[in-house]
Amino acid sequence: MAESILDAYKHERHEETVIDTTKKLKIGIIGTGWIASAHMESYLKMPDVEIVAGADLIPGKADEFFKRYNINARTYLSHKEMIDAEPELDAVSVCTYNVTHAECTIYALKKGLHVLLEKPMCVTLEEAIDICRAEKESGKVLSIGFQPRFDANMKMVKKIVESGELGKVYYIQTGGGRRRGIPTPFGTSFIEKETGGIGALGDIGCYSLDMVMNAIGYPKPLTVTGYKSDFFGKNPEYMPCPEYAEKFGVDDFGAGFVRLEGGIIIDFRIAWAMHVDTPGDTIIFGTKAALRIPSTDCWNGTVGGPMILYHDVCGTPTQTEIPILENSGLDSLFDLKVRSFLDAIKNGTPSPVPSSQIIYNQAILSGICRSAELGHEIQIEIPEI
Ligand SMILES: NC(=O)c1ccc[n+]([C@@H]2O[C@H](COP(=O)([O-])OP(=O)(O)OC[C@H]3O[C@@H](n4cnc5c(N)ncnc54)[C@H](O)[C@@H]3O)[C@@H](O)[C@H]2O)c1
Repeated sequence: MAESILDAYKHERHEETVIDTTKKLKIGIIGTGWIASAHMESYLKMPDVEIVAGADLIPGKADEFFKRYNINARTYLSHKEMIDAEPELDAVSVCTYNVTHAECTIYALKKGLHVLLEKPMCVTLEEAIDICRAEKESGKVLSIGFQPRFDANMKMVKKIVESGELGKVYYIQTGGGRRRGIPTPFGTSFIEKETGGIGALGDIGCYSLDMVMNAIGYPKPLTVTGYKSDFFGKNPEYMPCPEYAEKFGVDDFGAGFVRLEGGIIIDFRIAWAMHVDTPGDTIIFGTKAALRIPSTDCWNGTVGGPMILYHDVCGTPTQTEIPILENSGLDSLFDLKVRSFLDAIKNGTPSPVPSSQIIYNQAILSGICRSAELGHEIQIEIPEI
């Protein structure tokens, strides 16, 4: 393939921005568990941010969290307590387990706060609709925490699709997962119905759906046929302790066949545990070419190796390797996710990862769950918001 074509894909442009530090944004952190640390570490690098408060349902947890960072922030026992007591807050990070994403986000938006909401957006489509309505009424920035969006290789997937190199995209197989990887190292909040609400589908399935849905411009999902199972999570011999198997109340494997507006099919599967290394690479089938995106053995926010473009050159089937791109600058993907949220607040620009897109991601995930429970294909209905 001509060097010039490869070069067009090669370099990520990195724009240096000067951060105005005259006004510091006052931030509160809701939920001070594992992922809150990543938020905190990114916020600490931002010169225009002041962390003023935090909340966690578990008494003492928020105090310990701030002590670890030597930060003198006020602490509370729920999102409501914190938001009501802190009228000067500008924004919050919602770092709670999945089932409280919707209530914390809606409360914050209704009180006029900007929200950086961890993925998955929530558990059900109904919650996602309520979140979008609250956001619209508030006029505030709501960004959903998909840091892989900021990875240069992920951006390349979108660039390739948008360049027209693949022709019309008509079929996508995607997903992935781990051979052994039900997330229990810090307790059971991911695996219990009452806290996680949704399992592998929400935890890592949302990422692989976002990779391909974002690349093709987030067309509306129309119908879904879904499947989910919990054979590993419910197996006391597989789980680190038998009590975890008893507590397991979500999916550890999910699959879906999704029809999208524009005549595109997504064939998707995702696993927290399985007896194989991968259920397959992501492949985007187009009328002119296809793109293979190697799977990763875990969802860490990037692609599993160089991508391959399968296309014809003068009628000869040809393969072109797209080199792995380095992310530019010193920023981690997490820093970029936090920075993009802050910039949208300060500049009055659109949300970097908008709910108007992620509601379709949530619709697919919750459509898979609903279809699996009903045992037949379902229509996805999303009202005008
Ligand atoms: N973006 C990423 O890379 C990434 C990585 C891991 C987890 N996550 C997401 O982050 C979220 C949290 O994961 P985690 O591992 O930190 O979970 P965790 O269980 O360690 O922490 C969640 C905390 O939220 C608290 N909480 C729940 N509801 C609350 C409320 N209403 N008010 C105040 N506190 C509340 C809980 O008490 C708990 O301490 C999940 O939705 C997960 O999917 C994202």
